[in-house]
Amino acid sequence: MAVPRSEYLSSVWRDGIFDNKVVFCTGGAGTICSAQVRALVHLGANACIIGRNVEKTETMAKSIATARQGAKVIGIGAVDVRKIESLESAVERCVKELGGIDYVIAGAAGNFISPISGLSANAFKTVLDIDTIGSFNTLKATLPQLIISASKNPNTGTNPSTGGRIIFISASFHFTGMPLQAHVAVAKAGVDALSATTAIEYGPRGITSNVITPGPIMGTEGMARLGSREAESSGAAFKKVPLQRYGTVKEIADGTVYLFSDAGNFVNGEVLVIDGGDWRTPGAPGATKSQYPDYLLDDSMLRQKPGKKSKL
Ligand code: COA
Repeated sequence: MAVPRSEYLSSVWRDGIFDNKVVFCTGGAGTICSAQVRALVHLGANACIIGRNVEKTETMAKSIATARQGAKVIGIGAVDVRKIESLESAVERCVKELGGIDYVIAGAAGNFISPISGLSANAFKTVLDIDTIGSFNTLKATLPQLIISASKNPNTGTNPSTGGRIIFISASFHFTGMPLQAHVAVAKAGVDALSATTAIEYGPRGITSNVITPGPIMGTEGMARLGSREAESSGAAFKKVPLQRYGTVKEIADGTVYLFSDAGNFVNGEVLVIDGGDWRTPGAPGATKSQYPDYLLDDSMLRQKPGKKSKL
């Protein structure tokens, strides 16, 4: 069933601005990335979404294709961003079937809540492998296409036809440090550094590289893993967010359209934080069941063994 435009895209954007463009998105079956791709498809793009789960990825591709009559959306499952070869094959298929790649969203991520005492070396490495190495692999596999697209769509400041753009999806945990998220904070710091370096190294070829940092967004897999339903239904979870609510996937999709459209021509090497100001308020996510630092002083938390699911 088609999703109403108002759920994933503001009314300010004009239909057709991404006609004949192609977006390649890892983690594209997820709640946030699928809204980003749906918005781009609605505005004219075709898309390849990449995921690990074959059925989930193919089903989401069909759903996204309903955003615009005649849209081509390919779901490529069984791809693990930790393996560059599987990404290279996905890129090859995308180019063969859709003609090239103009925009990339590196969105695949892994997360769980754990104190440092509960992280094995492999658990820590696993998140770095998915988030940091996976983002690098995505960039590496798509870079030749981004270079071609940027050369066909020169970023002159007045050319409305854009191309050669990449957005990395990150998090704000490393801005301040975040209890129970050491693995993700470290991984995403690397993602931000990769984007900044890409902006400088490939800017001279017309490529732009930016980061979108979503804050707490309603209805996402991330919040299902990190949040507390109890705190959400009581409203306690929102207290830490200056705007006193969680964000919506539409608000992340709007930021994506901005960066890929000619409204974002001169934005390069930037981190666009879309979080209602959340990262600026101190403390752990408001969604945890108890207040900082109480949950960290709970002895059973400190004794948590690697691999055991956190009680939070
Ligand atoms: N707490 C502590 N350690 C954990 C854990 C948890 N909740 N969940 C997994 N681990 C550890 C495992 O024990 C393992 O370490 P070990 O070999 O020392 O025992 C290591 O992490 C790898 O786990 P495994 O399940 O083999 O990895 P995977 O590649 O199958 O899964 C994850 C990766 C763990 C990140 C998994 O949560 C995932 O696939 N996530 C993808 C989706 C997602 O996280 N989305 C949210 C986006 S915000």
